[in-house]
Amino acid sequence: MGEWTDPKFVPKDIDLERPNAARVYDYLLGGTANWAIDRQFGELAIAKVPMARTMARTNRDFLGRAVRHCVRQGITQFLDIGSGVPTVGNVHEVAEKLDPRTRCVYVDNEPVAVAHSEMLLDSYGDPERHAVLRGDLLDVRRTWSRAVDTGLLDPDRPVGLLMVAVLHFVPDDEQAGNAVARYRDLLPSGSYLVLSHASDDGVPAEQQSQLELVVEQYKRSSTPVCLRTHRGCTSFFGDFDLVDPGVTWVPEWRPDEAESQAPALLADNPSAACVLGGVALKE
Ligand SMILES: C[S@@+](CC[C@H](N)C(=O)[O-])C[C@H]1O[C@@H](n2cnc3c(N)ncnc32)[C@H](O)[C@@H]1O
Repeated sequence: MGEWTDPKFVPKDIDLERPNAARVYDYLLGGTANWAIDRQFGELAIAKVPMARTMARTNRDFLGRAVRHCVRQGITQFLDIGSGVPTVGNVHEVAEKLDPRTRCVYVDNEPVAVAHSEMLLDSYGDPERHAVLRGDLLDVRRTWSRAVDTGLLDPDRPVGLLMVAVLHFVPDDEQAGNAVARYRDLLPSGSYLVLSHASDDGVPAEQQSQLELVVEQYKRSSTPVCLRTHRGCTSFFGDFDLVDPGVTWVPEWRPDEAESQAPALLADNPSAACVLGGVALKE
């Protein structure tokens, strides 16, 4: 498929001393944009939480279903913050299957994720509809203005804003809550916020202990992780109107539209996904 899948490709200023969430997630999803340190870390996580790969897959499937929902509601422009290394079901690919006019700006703060996204878009994207930026979701004003400055997003028309599996890498509640509130304010009416987040709220004790071990493990990475309650995750949507079925375990979010087997694997035990997700409309 070209250079972007070459595991030997190393962008400048990459931190290879410590494992990183973007590259570990890529490993869990079966990608090649990861290094030995990330793979060892991923295997350690799998040893603690044997469902780790299924959890990642299930989150990714939620992202796809949520994007399709937005496109069906008329959304034609997406801002995907914490977009990750390109993998199966990238937002622009999912969206343009339903509407070939859709535009997408990807944002991530990890150099490998950004470099691989650039290479994917160089080879297979359309510069008039797709862009990727290296940026931090906490730098709200700059991230938003750079995304708009690409010329791909019209800030006066509804946007699909995605923050999927990224806010658990912002452990400070106030920092995370304030940043998301500012994005909610910036979005024009008719926009959708799509969000998923790791949680152990109400999961069986054995699973909770497994997750605690993984949270401890992530403290040794460049991207410590935190878990939030159902209430904490729901609060990110502010006064937006949550679409049915609200904030749920990701396999439960409109599972009938699923394309892969992961939600079916967790159909009898959705909380095993340990990721809550929801989609909400700004009236
Ligand atoms: C688990 S991956 C999720 C990728 C994709 N959104 C998905 O759900 O399939 C989390 C991504 O968030 C990125 N990330 C973490 N903290 C971030 C921040 N403060 N600003 C931007 N991106 C961040 C990581 O680099 C990583 O690529």
